[in-house]
Amino acid sequence: MTPEDFSELVRTRRSVRDFRPDPVPETLLTHILEDAKWAPSWTNTQPYFIAIASGEKTERLRQRYLELFDASLDAQHRRPLALLRMFLLRRGRPDGDFKTWRAYPRDLQPYRVKVGRELYSHLGIARQDRDARDAQWRRNCEFFGAPTIGFIFAHEGLLPFSAQDAGLMLQTLMLSAHANGVGTCPLGVLATWRGPVDAEFDIPPHYRLLTGIAIGYASDAHVNTFNAGRRSIDRIS
Ligand SMILES: Cc1cc2nc3c(=O)[nH]c(=O)nc-3n(C[C@H](O)[C@H](O)[C@H](O)COP(=O)(O)O)c2cc1C
Repeated sequence: MTPEDFSELVRTRRSVRDFRPDPVPETLLTHILEDAKWAPSWTNTQPYFIAIASGEKTERLRQRYLELFDASLDAQHRRPLALLRMFLLRRGRPDGDFKTWRAYPRDLQPYRVKVGRELYSHLGIARQDRDARDAQWRRNCEFFGAPTIGFIFAHEGLLPFSAQDAGLMLQTLMLSAHANGVGTCPLGVLATWRGPVDAEFDIPPHYRLLTGIAIGYASDAHVNTFNAGRRSIDRIS
């Protein structure tokens, strides 16, 4: 591989937000996971866990996440009494290991707003069009139609280093997938709820859920031409 090949691989990977339904062959998924495990880790402990679902399991997870999303939407919009109702009735209540509904640090908030604005504008969704925004947000819990969904966990006894290692593994996985023509999108939003994952997998109790990841073949939908760009490098000099 030339240095140019490497730069090309890294710079052309994008978060895929619309997938074709075609399954990724089991042998190819295994190959990608085999690549991912070559990511470096703290004293080579590989202190993470990945659970992967395809077929009917994916469909059950998709269904359950959509139900949780729908049940929590009013609370997400801070509608009067919705939070109280969600907690009392336990419908849609977050049960993840880490809080995903939280205020962003003030210095990072502008970047979050920027990427959201640019993505919605790319999709032609107006800022005031709450229904269209909700529908696009809901697509996250539909895994953007991906046939395969993964969940990444970090060992609680080695945090924050285990989370760092999980991130290194995740990027290696995404690059291997991309090199093999397979698209991915990390789905941090899925870490809001852990119940659906525990219902489908036997996750060792000391592993904490960090993120989901959708895996499949990118469709030619317009959303997949979105380029989030990057900040200038001089901010770290
Ligand atoms: C841990 C993690 C969680 C993410 N969660 C989401 C998510 O829930 N929904 C989503 O659409 N994108 C999610 N993303 C994708 C980021 O928005 C994306 O990586 C960023 O905007 C840069 O775009 P790019 O991946 O196309 O280069 C996540 C990325 C990471 C690394």
